[in-house]
Amino acid sequence: MVLDIIKSRRSIRRFLDTPIPPEILQELLEAAQWAPSGSNNQPWAFVVVQEPASVRKVKMFSPGLGGVPAALLIVCSDHSREDTTAIMDVSMAAQNVMLVATDKGLGSCVVRSHNPKALQTLLELPADVVPELIVALGYAVKPARNPGRRPIEELVHWEQYGGQPGEQ
Ligand SMILES: Cc1cc2nc3c(=O)[nH]c(=O)nc-3n(C[C@H](O)[C@H](O)[C@H](O)COP(=O)(O)O)c2cc1C
Repeated sequence: MVLDIIKSRRSIRRFLDTPIPPEILQELLEAAQWAPSGSNNQPWAFVVVQEPASVRKVKMFSPGLGGVPAALLIVCSDHSREDTTAIMDVSMAAQNVMLVATDKGLGSCVVRSHNPKALQTLLELPADVVPELIVALGYAVKPARNPGRRPIEELVHWEQYGGQPGEQ
């Protein structure tokens, strides 16, 4: 069930050496490809980094990236396309990837803490293509602790802000 996958996804920051099978990687990329985007503009580009030396280099410029993932998906906005919704679009693509990864038994972690300028140079990205998020991917050393969420009653408002369920 999709909700079970959503709830069981955890941010993983320690990975085994085990590589990701190419057919699974392909499915993760299709999950990104099929994310919704404003007006279907698809203002994104995805860079797969798997070479161990390249993963290490990306890590040097990404203080928020934990462990040594088997693969990195660098999720970029592409400002050469209509881009008013680009940040939202790439976020949805990243989430799609992580949910399919969870379904396939892979760990993942989305990382914002990186140096975009350094990654642009390292990955030879055109000026319009900006790395927004890194999705770290690999098999987890061990399951992550569930950090929990705020209670649903605190987040959800019925009909108007502060409204309780069943109130008119
Ligand atoms: C926009 C965004 C940026 C994040 N950046 C980082 C990061 O730089 N490094 C990291 O280890 N985790 C990062 N995370 C993961 C969060 O820390 C994590 O989702 C949160 O603690 C909840 O844990 P869970 O994903 O296991 O439910 C980021 C998450 C989001 C949504």
